[in-house]
Amino acid sequence: MEVVILPGSRQIASLVSDAIQALLHRKPDAVLGLATGSSPLPVYDELALRHERGVLDFSRAHGFLLDEYVGLEPGHPESYREVIRRDFTGRVNIAPENVHGPDGSAKDLPAACQAYEAAIRDRGGVDLQLLGIGTDGHIGFNEPGSSLASRTRIKTLIEQTRRDNARFFPSLAEVPHHVVTQGLGTILDSRHAVLVATGAQKAQAVHDLVEGPLAAICPASALQLHPHASILVDEAAASSLKLADYYRHSYDHKPTWQGL
Ligand code: F6R
Repeated sequence: MEVVILPGSRQIASLVSDAIQALLHRKPDAVLGLATGSSPLPVYDELALRHERGVLDFSRAHGFLLDEYVGLEPGHPESYREVIRRDFTGRVNIAPENVHGPDGSAKDLPAACQAYEAAIRDRGGVDLQLLGIGTDGHIGFNEPGSSLASRTRIKTLIEQTRRDNARFFPSLAEVPHHVVTQGLGTILDSRHAVLVATGAQKAQAVHDLVEGPLAAICPASALQLHPHASILVDEAAASSLKLADYYRHSYDHKPTWQGL
């Protein structure tokens, strides 16, 4: 696991975009794992800008969403399918049929979850999985207590997550209680996991993820098992890290050929 502490979200976005750019140049039909929420927005802005400038071509790329609310009708403005279209995929030349998400409106949710796992597998797996982290340590919507080996399935949101996400809905009452999410095992299968976190409200979760024990109480700590995980944080989100100076030193002296 590599921890990179950067001054702010612009520098984080630039570094993630460099990694995605290198991936797409190496593998134009790469599979990107897409997170929603506030954390990746600067990354999506930077990718859209590079696309406008002709630097990035997504025409052969695929995208797989991490998660989706259960019970929002298709096309609901806060469904993650719609959110990702507004925030990212509608701003670049990725083919709409190449953007996939778990079906939170399926009648048979377990079958839809299995089909989603199969779709990721059939596409050859996720090359780069972008992640945010919840204040309770969730990644995707794997709330505390999630099995470290879990696959795509239904989960119940913790009230804190519903409150955190209420800012996107007219009222708290309208935030769904249930979601379908890639499991921790699914996320661990990605070839490169890139987690971005900014702001002091994420400091405890980032500490638990990087320096806490591997434990279901902090689902993101599962990334300690990932062979290639990059944790990109700003100073505020890094403020509880015990080994912050070591992470800075390692990054400052990293061989330039290594990339993220
Ligand atoms: C969203 C997702 C969540 C968010 C997390 C942080 O697809 O998977 O894990 O990344 O809730 O949300 P923000 O970035 O809004 O703080």
